[in-house]
Amino acid sequence: MLFLLRRMQAMHVNRVKALLAICGLLSGGVLLLDGERILSASPQSASAPAVAPGATPKFAEEQYKNIKVLKGIPADQVIPSMQFITASLGVDCEYCHVPRAMDKDDKKHKLVARQMITMMMAINKDNFEGRREVTCYSCHRGAADPIGTPVITEALPKTETGEDGKTPLPAAEQLFDKYLAAAGGADALHKITSRIQKGTVTLAGAQSSAIEVYSKAPDKRISYTHLSAGESVTAFDGKQGWLSVPGRVHIMSAAENDAAHLDADLYFPINAKSLYAKFVVTPGEKIDGRDTYLVTGREESKPPLRLYFDQQSGLLLRMIRYAESPLGRNPTETDYADYRNVDGAKIPFRWQVARPGNRFTVQIDQVQQNVPVDDSRFAPAPSPASSRPTP
Ligand code: HEC
Ligand code: HEC
Repeated sequence: MLFLLRRMQAMHVNRVKALLAICGLLSGGVLLLDGERILSASPQSASAPAVAPGATPKFAEEQYKNIKVLKGIPADQVIPSMQFITASLGVDCEYCHVPRAMDKDDKKHKLVARQMITMMMAINKDNFEGRREVTCYSCHRGAADPIGTPVITEALPKTETGEDGKTPLPAAEQLFDKYLAAAGGADALHKITSRIQKGTVTLAGAQSSAIEVYSKAPDKRISYTHLSAGESVTAFDGKQGWLSVPGRVHIMSAAENDAAHLDADLYFPINAKSLYAKFVVTPGEKIDGRDTYLVTGREESKPPLRLYFDQQSGLLLRMIRYAESPLGRNPTETDYADYRNVDGAKIPFRWQVARPGNRFTVQIDQVQQNVPVDDSRFAPAPSPASSRPTP
């Protein structure tokens, strides 16, 4: 994804931030700092996959200049690890790095951070059989300087919810059934084979831009955001996800691909319950004043998936998913609202996507279903803006 930078360095910073945030890339300014260096490490042709089929992925130390403690992790996991550190400490990349020279060790905080990575690994090795239980966030909680002393707060101590015996929790199965029924039911949903949504996307504190989302059963999806800096595209063609800005295409990594696949599932209310081997129900926090149940999908070797269902309507109000990085998991939270009935299916007309450091809202105002959408629309094209088919 970093290649996008080379293209963008000429653009205005805020415009670039908007583009990156919306195509689901690194939080805001992150990319701006060291574009050249990161880019020059792996020049890629416009549509080449990050790793050619059959080739061994590069290690961090093969791609970057000054890796001392993250040796042995895949090169494409360095930036997600950095995102995790940045979110855990509530800082910017510049807190540790000299802009445009990320390999330099000039800043003291970078040296401390390196020690901290080693410490974190040792804690987990010595106490948790190497499982990554303690992360930067366990101690830092979003601050550079962790607090070691309990704080006296006004708030009453939290009481354990759900264990008062008064309100037994429903089974996950029941909640999935209720969700499916609320969303229109399997029969109504299966009658929908394509969907075109048009509306606006607003990045926190910025102007709105037009967005179009094309979906095709079972799991193809493409969204075009018309930003002043150009068109940003996020797509999943049923197998592979990709992102683009004018003239450049990025093929998604495995973790990005999983997330894109989830978003592209036109029959999500039907398929949700088969996504994980096991689901656990707990009371969820209120969302927009509504009581929720939290259904957490768990499976070994996969990060969890959290689904918050409206206790009354049964509809999905929030989804939190996680992308693994060697140092910890990077969360993405999507809130769904403004559900409306279209041809028997209840679909959200508004959703808000939040990641540490950025957030944007999509508001749909027009939906068409079962209009023909050609498969070629979802395939990555070197220049989607110019070569994309008209509907
Ligand atoms: C709290 C400190 C800290 C923050 C914040 C941080 N990094 Fe790092 N970064 C490090 C450390 C430490 C290393 C070296 C890791 C090692 O030696 O294995 C590193 C290495 C890197 C490298 C490899 C450079 C090279 O060529 O050797 C890149 C690229 C990088 N960081 C990018 C980022 C980006 C982008 C951000 C913002 C999202 C960021 N970092 C935020 C501490 C930090
Ligand atoms: C076990 C708890 C713990 C973990 C885990 C931990 N830290 Fe720290 N960290 C601390 C404490 C405590 C301090 C403050 C030390 C001091 O005040 O001298 C600190 C200080 C720092 C500082 C210097 C801050 C300053 O203001 O000078 C950086 C940078 C840092 N940690 C980065 C990290 C990173 C990156 C990770 C994850 C790889 C991490 N820490 C994991 C406890 C932790």
